[in-house]
Amino acid sequence: MNHKELVFIILTLFFSGLSAQQRIVEIEELLQKMTIEEKIGQLNLLTPGGGVATGSVVSENVEAKIKAGKVGGLFGVAGPDKVRVAQEIAVKQSRLGIPLLIGSDVIHGYKTTYPIPLGLASSWDLELIEKAAQMAAKEATADGINWNFSPMVDIARDPRWGRIAEGAGEDPYLGSKIAEAMVRGYQGGDLAAEHTMLACVKHFALYGAVEAGRDYNSVDMSKVKMYNQYLPPYKAAIDAGAATVMTSFNDVDGVPATGNKWLLTELLRNQWGFGGFVVSDYTSLNEMISHGLGDLQAVSALALKAGLDMDMVGEGFLTTLKKSLEEGKVTEEEITNACRRVLEAKYISGLFDDPYRYLDTKRPARDILTKEHRNLARKLATRSFVLLKNENGILPIQKNKKIALIGPLADSRENMLGTWAPTGDLSLAVTVLEGLKNVAPNARIEYAKGANITDDEEFAKRVNVFGTRIDIDSRSPESMLEEAVDLAKTSDVVIAVVGEATEMSGESSSRSDISIPESQKKLIRALVASGKPVALVLMSGRPLTIPEEFDMPVAILQVWHPGVEAGNAIADVIFGDYNPSGKLTATWPRNVGQIPIYHSIKTTGRPGPLDGTFEKFKSNYLDVPNTPLIPFGYGLSYTEFKYSNLRLDKETIGPNDSISATVTVSNIGKFDGEEVVQLYLSDMVRSITPPGRQLKGFAKVMLKKGESKEVTITLSPDDLKFYNGQLEFVSEPGEFKVFVGPNSDAQLSKTFMLK
Ligand code: BGC
Repeated sequence: MNHKELVFIILTLFFSGLSAQQRIVEIEELLQKMTIEEKIGQLNLLTPGGGVATGSVVSENVEAKIKAGKVGGLFGVAGPDKVRVAQEIAVKQSRLGIPLLIGSDVIHGYKTTYPIPLGLASSWDLELIEKAAQMAAKEATADGINWNFSPMVDIARDPRWGRIAEGAGEDPYLGSKIAEAMVRGYQGGDLAAEHTMLACVKHFALYGAVEAGRDYNSVDMSKVKMYNQYLPPYKAAIDAGAATVMTSFNDVDGVPATGNKWLLTELLRNQWGFGGFVVSDYTSLNEMISHGLGDLQAVSALALKAGLDMDMVGEGFLTTLKKSLEEGKVTEEEITNACRRVLEAKYISGLFDDPYRYLDTKRPARDILTKEHRNLARKLATRSFVLLKNENGILPIQKNKKIALIGPLADSRENMLGTWAPTGDLSLAVTVLEGLKNVAPNARIEYAKGANITDDEEFAKRVNVFGTRIDIDSRSPESMLEEAVDLAKTSDVVIAVVGEATEMSGESSSRSDISIPESQKKLIRALVASGKPVALVLMSGRPLTIPEEFDMPVAILQVWHPGVEAGNAIADVIFGDYNPSGKLTATWPRNVGQIPIYHSIKTTGRPGPLDGTFEKFKSNYLDVPNTPLIPFGYGLSYTEFKYSNLRLDKETIGPNDSISATVTVSNIGKFDGEEVVQLYLSDMVRSITPPGRQLKGFAKVMLKKGESKEVTITLSPDDLKFYNGQLEFVSEPGEFKVFVGPNSDAQLSKTFMLK
């Protein structure tokens, strides 16, 4: 470091110390002026019902409450003009003029909707993911939002759970990297800057482990599993500086997360050093009554004492905390502490300097849905697609072919954005039919619906809560099928766009059967029977069970729900303008009976045979192999990659040493392409049973046709560590095995010793 750099660092530290000091003084002065009612008011988060009401309650008399200083923040309000109205009431008409936090669920893009998070994660491209979050922040802040209820970092190993769509999948290592990238993208370096917003890590904690994959269900888990497998992404997000945390609906060790002192204070604040504020989920405070923890006053006091700072929608804090204070059930200090944390978030967002800082009416037109953003959304979508199969090189398709475009999702605008896109605009989404025509204007494309997403009207009604996603046709299933098969027979190639409607995954959208609905299975069978080459474009918000389709002589491109540029991005990949590079971030089971199934599963004391055969008195099934249908990390390319010559730079290391693995990756196919090189680690001997193998590193590389590259992935001392039986983060001496390859079945391996 030279002299100039040193001076710069000293000055920065001095001034940041000064501003922190100033912040503390100003907030303490404000707290002095506040009545107890006003402090409690800051702990109250309301929604006037403009967004998605995910519970039965929508706030009433919001305006009067803001005037009375009884509201700390709002969500479900957007647009500079509307937010200004609310902010002016708070600033000009409440006694102390404290500005409001304006929250929103910007889960995968604001108006420029990009792929659902499970899809985005499949890109394994941290730089792009950070850019996506930056774009979301730029658009949302242009519309007056200063607080985002994202990233959702719940590890999910049960695809029956519909909210697997909202996270990064099953793996704590990848999940942590993605969590960090998203926090960086939303918050940038300065929360008061006009393009940044507060992140909110959710749902703390373990929400992805709800029993039987049924949403809002109970969770029960050992501490070692928690620390090693489920908590890392939350911690990574906190370490990356996430300003706020949202609790989860489930219980942890028998206490609902929203009132769980161990979780919110012991772990989050004391062990992890989190200094921001904690908000409940939608009425999750009130739901503690139904969990069996007491009446509203009791659960509100319990939650405050546990470390909850803000109550979303339920008004338990607002209506009971004063009484609890008078009865000695909570202390003024506890209320003040929670209030201070909320005020600090407002302070670091710059709202005390200028409450209208995110309310420039010129910004929406300038910053939202720009050409640049739509291009990025298109790029993100192409990177999220996973090629699951490509029999006979059906894909890519030449642009001059006669194409039969078939399927209930082929011309369906309302199913392109995906779940949890309340800020997006369905009408702007590009359908697959439009996308193919845009990208290949000379192709001859004809469309037939072929089948309903499902023929089950009751199921459709349940899915259609936010509007029609499953549109059951007035024609009979037989006549639709016949039309589609006739079209297929007169075409060169069939593209069948099938799978789940958007709201078949997401919140409160658990499924016990995660196969493609029967109506569409019949269509797929008939199309394959036509003898024409068939490419399935599969949409879903979760891994599906597709053993039958996976066995067919077809191509399968998994596209999740790709967002506003859906059709264009799908066409880019179908026609080979982009060679797919996505890799699965959650294992695809053979059937639901295998769930939970994930790549880091333990070997057990009686490992089942690796070749899928059955052996009595081993850990296996009578009816299916232990292996999944498609493993974690899997994804094909139009080209072919060969891995060779894996070597380690050391044979033995000490506990503070790093070790590097280098492998030669060669593109031996006919296309340029990107590959996600993955490193898995097995800890062969340790004090608590280790996972079989765990992802510990990856690198995404671009290889021209015929090109070879040396790819090096380095393991740090922390990568060898785990939480032991005493929950200490340690590495233990002994043998480790490194595997490097294209997915979690990576075969090349080398061994090293940790002294
Ligand atoms: C969801 C949260 C969301 C909140 C506010 C809840 O139902 O669980 O993820 O942030 O609603 O919309």
